[in-house]
Amino acid sequence: MKNILIITGSNGFIGQNLTDYLLERFETIYLLDVSNNGEDQQSDNLRYVKLDITNENSVLNFFNNLKTEKINSASLINLAAKDHKVGKEGEEFNWSIDNANVDDLRNNLEISIIGTFLVTKYFCKLIVDNDLSGKVINFASDLSVIISNDSVYSSDTHKPIDYSISKHGLIGLTKYFAVYYAKYNITVNAISPTGIFNNQSEEFISKYSNQIPKGRMLKVEEIFSAVDFLLNEESTFITGQNIIIDGGRTLW
Ligand SMILES: NC(=O)c1ccc[n+]([C@@H]2O[C@H](COP(=O)([O-])OP(=O)(O)OC[C@H]3O[C@@H](n4cnc5c(N)ncnc54)[C@H](O)[C@@H]3O)[C@@H](O)[C@H]2O)c1
Repeated sequence: MKNILIITGSNGFIGQNLTDYLLERFETIYLLDVSNNGEDQQSDNLRYVKLDITNENSVLNFFNNLKTEKINSASLINLAAKDHKVGKEGEEFNWSIDNANVDDLRNNLEISIIGTFLVTKYFCKLIVDNDLSGKVINFASDLSVIISNDSVYSSDTHKPIDYSISKHGLIGLTKYFAVYYAKYNITVNAISPTGIFNNQSEEFISKYSNQIPKGRMLKVEEIFSAVDFLLNEESTFITGQNIIIDGGRTLW
């Protein structure tokens, strides 16, 4: 019997760091990403699956294929999102309500909300149908409870609105699933990091750090203890919560 982990958006910055960290903990980690480029590195421990989480048939097929595995418990970490990164996406980040591209907006919300809904729906069905224990962690952001203070960006640059809407919505999704599946052996929680150090410019780091009582951005390894805590078999009564890892940013 296997203890498995599924990560969506596994090919991104947090996904790669979390996979390395959790490697020893699970017999098999399924790495789901639309831009997966590790498919030639399959192993018993790591299974790379190129998959668009907004495509219901693809998501359903993935979970149908899992039916042949002998699973004892399963965890799901939802990372997939359109995460606009300052300094890395140029023009796209130069967003305003006046020039908003509604197709982009719709597409980004579809990834964060509809895609996460679909994966979580079929994950919970797997748990319930097979009488397993299941843990879900949805990665939101400190922007699930506050709105971006855009003074960290150069003038006229804004964090796009889909990010704020989707992260606030993800907390609603988390709470809904937590309540809906409360009578089963399933917990559904969110983790909300603030901005993580990732080669941003000195100017950006300095401005961002000024918005944080602890005076600096987050280090990626500082999210691991919260993940450990929520994945722990003994965390059975904590559900529907949003753990904010922000050095106090949301208190200001
Ligand atoms: N990095 C940060 O500073 C930070 C801070 C707070 C919250 N978060 C959140 O944590 C999560 C992960 O962040 P990250 O920095 O690793 O982001 P990232 O942009 O590096 O990775 C996101 C991954 O999701 C994948 N993805 C996008 N659409 C998909 C789809 N339809 N189907 C499958 N995969 C898809 C992308 O290919 C990418 O590999 C995101 O939800 C992000 O909003 C990140």
